[in-house]
Order: sequence, then structure tokens, then C-alpha cells
Amino acid sequence: METKQNTCVFASVKQFITTENNGNLLIQCGLALFTIYILYKFFIGGRKNLPCRPVRDIGVSPASLGTGPKIDCVNPATGKSMGIVNALKPEEVKKCLAEAKIAQAEWATTSFDERRQVLQDFIDMFIANENEIVESSMKDTGKTRFEAMFGEILTSCEKLRYLIKHGEDALKPQTRRVPMLMGTKSGRLEYHPMGTIGIIIPWNYPVHSIISAAAAAIFAGNAALVKVSEWSTHSKILFEHLVRQVLSKRGHNPNLIQILPGMGETGEALVRSGVDKILFIGSPGTGKRVMKAASDNLTPVILELGGKDPMIIFDDVNLDWALAIAQRGCFINLGQNCISAERVFVHEKIYDKFCKAMADKINSLTQGPPEEGHFDFGSMTMPAQVDKVESLVQSAIKEGATLLAGGKRNPKYSKGNFFMPTVLSNVTEDMTIFNEEAFGPVCTIVKFSSEQDLIRMANGTVFGLGCSILTPDLKKAERVGSKISTGMLTINDYGASYLVQDLPFGGCKESGFGRFNGPEGLRGFSREVSVLTDRFPIITPVPRLIRYPIDPAAVGIIRQAILMIYSNGLTLKLKAGLNFAGKVMKNPKLLL
Ligand SMILES: *[C@@H]1O[C@H](CO)[C@@H](O)[C@H](O)[C@H]1NC(C)=O
Ligand SMILES: *[C@@H]1O[C@H](CO)[C@@H](O)[C@H](O)[C@H]1NC(C)=O
Repeated sequence: METKQNTCVFASVKQFITTENNGNLLIQCGLALFTIYILYKFFIGGRKNLPCRPVRDIGVSPASLGTGPKIDCVNPATGKSMGIVNALKPEEVKKCLAEAKIAQAEWATTSFDERRQVLQDFIDMFIANENEIVESSMKDTGKTRFEAMFGEILTSCEKLRYLIKHGEDALKPQTRRVPMLMGTKSGRLEYHPMGTIGIIIPWNYPVHSIISAAAAAIFAGNAALVKVSEWSTHSKILFEHLVRQVLSKRGHNPNLIQILPGMGETGEALVRSGVDKILFIGSPGTGKRVMKAASDNLTPVILELGGKDPMIIFDDVNLDWALAIAQRGCFINLGQNCISAERVFVHEKIYDKFCKAMADKINSLTQGPPEEGHFDFGSMTMPAQVDKVESLVQSAIKEGATLLAGGKRNPKYSKGNFFMPTVLSNVTEDMTIFNEEAFGPVCTIVKFSSEQDLIRMANGTVFGLGCSILTPDLKKAERVGSKISTGMLTINDYGASYLVQDLPFGGCKESGFGRFNGPEGLRGFSREVSVLTDRFPIITPVPRLIRYPIDPAAVGIIRQAILMIYSNGLTLKLKAGLNFAGKVMKNPKLLL
């Protein structure tokens, strides 16, 4: 009866489809359904798992209640004070951590969909408040509007976009292989939140450095305590407010991300507070102290320290193109950048021409207070760094370098940290400036002739952060690049890997270890859990062989099993297999 009915239905469906008009109708219906499906996926599909949380009170950040030493927030381009922020005392840092722990316990239960929603809100926040954020960073650091737009807004949006799009992939459990002996089991690696991540950032990107590290930390399910530098503290007031607004509006605890003002003492208190991991970005000297302090609690650390990055320019390049890249490499953010091109190696054939063109260009550019007009360069941020750059340049000249541009504080501005963009040629590997990080607007140009000398010199510092090589001969670039100890190699560009967020960022040697950005960065903020479980819904029996009391025959059986599995060569394996079978047959009960 049923079969008959089915045949009947099939026949009528077939007839329906083959009738021409109905066929068109079917295509139209199909298209309509497909459109509805796409619209559903686009507008509703991704959001279906989101619980609606009631809006929370934005409250007051525990990190803004410091009663420690006063930090005078000075605009480094004008010398004017923007106000006082109190540093956090060590016991106040502990309070921040206690609140972060409460926030994290709740946050760890959120889905990736909810975390993506918050990150998307952060992107919207950057776009809606772009002007305020840019100006805040300009006032804090003395950088130009262009640098702030590029280094604070664009990079932050790209970081967030990357996490939204690919973050979950990096944190998905990974299946791991099991050996034949454990064939009934299955293995996987899971990434769990660690708890609270302590992050210490420098002053060169006071907004981006906060969100870059904090967004990755919270996406992996953690809370973030970010200690900002006393040399660029002012941006934290605006930025912490914006971040708390996003979190509380979505019904999350706003203490999930706290921005801690303070000096070295506050940083040390954070390292010793019992956070679950430390990310330190700063100088090798402080990095060593961080690692020592972290060892008290065995807190793991990621260290992103300085660099003395080589940029290598071969004689087969287009000179104008290479100059443009080298200029950005040396003077981006006025050289206050860990991946600045601190040593430019130029082939002897084009050396003189290159040096002259570099000097002519730099001498033609403008410098001034960014809020007073459009300039190519603003001021430096930290007064002591100006002293350091000045002394490095002076010693280079004494040691025989040729000064082609700048070389001193800008005489037009008595106030503010204006050191002029500087070009030095005839720099050699024995000079102080060749070996010590300048972290300022200095382009030092070194001549090379043979590849061998070049590799020795380029590789010849204690640092190993980045390296860039300019040449149309990609084979040559790879060959030379592979011989230089570096964390990041960029061919025919400078520092561009930072905008490719899937590539981890970090160095070797005294430039530090551990990575941020990319899947490695997210996993670095995760507790890895190796899980071994049953592959099938059958509990694997424990062979009598390994049950107590141990049977004396067990030794021989295991020995033959080892030879059978691990011997090199088929005959050896076969022989061991036969022996194994013989021994098992004598004691069959031992395998069951
Ligand atoms: C290097 O130094 C020599 C000797 O002082 C000088 O003649 C030459 O112009 C310098 N080269 C460049 C590119 O500045
Ligand atoms: C580069 O420097 C590192 C250590 O600083 C050294 O181990 C390595 O051998 C050097 N590479 C070459 C090609 O000399």
C-alpha cells in the first residue's frame, strides 16, 4: 500500500518538474529560497547564539583610583601639562587583579560569538571616536596626525578584524595522532583561558598597544591588566572610558580590561601580583628585570624587547623605490619603533648616490608641533630618549661617521622634544651607534661589498627582531635572509608583516622570545590542555600483562612487542612477531 503511494508521489513530482512552466517556477522558487538563506546567514545566522544581557553600570575602574606618586602628563611637543594622574601603589594593583578575576570568571563562559560581538563594537568605537583617539595619542606622544591615524587606528582595526575573522580557528581543539599501541584512544589539544594576563607596554603607541594585547587576551577568554608608560599616560583616560562603555553596554563586567597608570614600581607590582601570564614590551634591560621578578611565582613571560634591525639594499634596486621604503623604515613614528630600520646596508655601487638622495630628501622635510599645522615629523616622546639619541649621534661623528642631515635638537623649538631627523653615512660596525638601539629619528647608512661581509655585519648585534631586504632578485634575498638570525624577515618591504596579523610578531637573541599576533599570539594567552580519551564508546580493557601482580612472562612478551614495533627492517619485525605470537600462545590469559 505504502509503496504504491510513494510511486504515485514520485510520478506526479516528475510530471510537475518536466512541465515547462513549472520548471521555471521551480528555478524561481529556488532562487528566492537561496536569497532568503543568504540574507538569513548574513543578518541573523551569525547572531543566533547571542544571549541578550542587561546593560551594566559603567562604574569606576579600580585602575583609576590610584593614590601613588603623581604623574604629570606633559604634551612632549609643547611642554604643556595636560593634568595629573596618580600612579597605582602595589596594594592597589592587587585590588585591580581581584576585580579582574571576578570579571574573568564570568567572561570565560561567553561564546566566541559574544566575544566577536565585543570586538566588533571596539572597531565601531575606533571609527566613531577616531578624531578624539587620534588627538589624544598626538598630545601624549608628539606624533603627527598621519602617524596616529596609521599607527593607532588602522593597525588596531586590522588586529580586531583579524581576531573576529580567524581567532576562533586558532583556538579550536586540534586532533593529535595516537600511536598503534594506543589505537583505541583519541588525542586532542585544547586551548583554555589562562585567567588574567598582565601586559606592560611602552609609550610609542599608547592606544594601539593597549587594544592589540588586550583584545587577543580577552578573545582567548582572559581578563587583561594593561600597565601603560608614565611617558604616555594621558590617552588612558579617554580610552579606558570607551572600552568600559563597550563592555558595560553589552552587559559584560567593565573591569575585564583595566588600564593601570604608574612607573616602574607599579609595573613590578603587576609582575609580582600573581597574574597568570606577563607580556612585556620594552627594553632588554627592563625585560631582564621582569623575567627575574616573574620567576618568584613562576609566572610565564613573553618578552618583546628592542631591535637593531638591518635593512639591506642591493645595487639592482630601483633607487627611488628603495629610498621611499628606507625613509619610512627609518623615520616611521620618528624612529620610535622597535622594528625601525636602525641600520641601512647599501651596496657600494649605489652607496654615494643613495646617501646623497637620502640626505637631500630628509633636509627638505618639515618638523613642528602636530597640533599647530601639517608637518612631516612631530616631536619625540620621552626626554631621556632625546638625550640618548643625541649622545649616540655625537659619538658616531667622533668615531668617524659623516653627518648629512639633522644631528641635533631642532633650533626652531626651545620647548618640546624636537630632535631633527638625522642621516649618518660612513657608519661602520665598530661604532657605538651600530650596536646600541637608538629608538629615534636616525638613519645610519653602512656600505657593503661582498655578501659574506654583509651577512657578518647584519647579523652582528645582540638583537634579532626584524630584517628587511630590498632586491628584485628574490633568490638572493632568501639566501641572505636565511643566514641572518631574526624573528621576522621582510623582502621588498619594511615592517609590513605587522599588517599581516596572521604572522606572529617577535624576535630572537636579546630581542626577546614568545610571540604576539597570529595564532601563536592567541595560543600564547591560553592554557594548553592535552586530552586523551576513548575513540569508541567501549572502555579499553587493561591487559593482564600490566596488571599487578606482574607475571614473570610479561617481560618477554613486552620485549618481543618492542622489537616487533620498533625494529628497523621487515625480517627483524617478522621474527619478533613470530616470537611474540609464540609467547602469547603460551600465556594467552596475559593479553585479555
Ligand atoms: C665618507 O667619508 C669620506 C671621507 O670623509 C667623504 O669624502 C665621503 O663623502 C663620505 N661618504 C658619504 C657618502 O658621505
Ligand atoms: C648570527 O648570529 C648568531 C648569534 O648571534 C650566530 O649563532 C649565528 O651563527 C650567526 N649566523 C651567521 C651566518 O654567522
